[in-house]
Amino acid sequence: MGRLENKVAIITGAANGIGKAIAAKYAAEGAKIVIADFNEEALNATVEQFKADGKKAFGVKVNVAVEEDIQRMVDDSVSHFGRVDILVNCAGVLDNMKAAHNVDDEIWQRVMDINVGGVMRGIRKILPIFQEQKSGVIVNLSSLSGLQGGRGGFTYTAAKHAVTGMTKNVASHYGLMGIRCNAIAPGQVDTGLVQSIENFDMFGLGQATRGVKDLMPAPAQPDQIADIALFLASDESSYINGVVLAADAGWSAY
Ligand SMILES: NC(=O)c1ccc[n+]([C@@H]2O[C@H](COP(=O)([O-])OP(=O)(O)OC[C@H]3O[C@@H](n4cnc5c(N)ncnc54)[C@H](O)[C@@H]3O)[C@@H](O)[C@H]2O)c1
Repeated sequence: MGRLENKVAIITGAANGIGKAIAAKYAAEGAKIVIADFNEEALNATVEQFKADGKKAFGVKVNVAVEEDIQRMVDDSVSHFGRVDILVNCAGVLDNMKAAHNVDDEIWQRVMDINVGGVMRGIRKILPIFQEQKSGVIVNLSSLSGLQGGRGGFTYTAAKHAVTGMTKNVASHYGLMGIRCNAIAPGQVDTGLVQSIENFDMFGLGQATRGVKDLMPAPAQPDQIADIALFLASDESSYINGVVLAADAGWSAY
């Protein structure tokens, strides 16, 4: 019997990177998976791959910044699998390491809409379902930038601190109703996220990576973050609520 046998999990940003690794880990433990992502090509390829491996997977094209998309994502998941037990808010983007004096409104709005608005919309939609069934687990992808001040760009840091706050608020308000909400705060993870940046703010990058040579450990593999997401979704973490778990091989412990 798998650790998530017959649980239904929606994972946003699951066509690539950490989200995809989480989806694979959950599916291997018996969960039925909703792969929700913006990138249609990668989404279709991932769903096909999961199905070919004999996993129960369902794909939904969604922009987490759009309210109707989030509504459809959850409604279609319930129609397809009959229920939802786990929501992983993983979809996220970077801010090109823009330092405060270089932030433009476009970057601010985009990062806030996706990294904060997307998490808020997912939580807002899923909570009535979890309240009704008196159970449910939310796992958010925060970042070390959601715990520390200087490891990312200004907007990304603000956005991930908001994810940290939302995580604790939901755990506090809904914990007694059988609902858990925790987050993972990775340092650096080996995915396509950083490579997707085209115009780094070199000032911001330099400030955020001071001390990297001596202090920053090797990047995590997505699987290492997925192991934590599995623990947080499973009953093994049943007494953990409102925690934002740093996953950085001790980088922030210095
Ligand atoms: N990679 C890292 O070093 C790192 C470190 C700390 C935190 N994180 C966080 O982990 C999460 C996943 O990052 P990753 O490294 O796997 O990134 P990734 O770029 O490899 O994958 C992100 C996925 O999210 C999807 N996505 C982006 N915007 C979306 C939107 N508006 N709606 C729906 N889907 C959207 C992309 O299509 C992609 O499939 C993010 O929230 C990120 O901030 C990553």
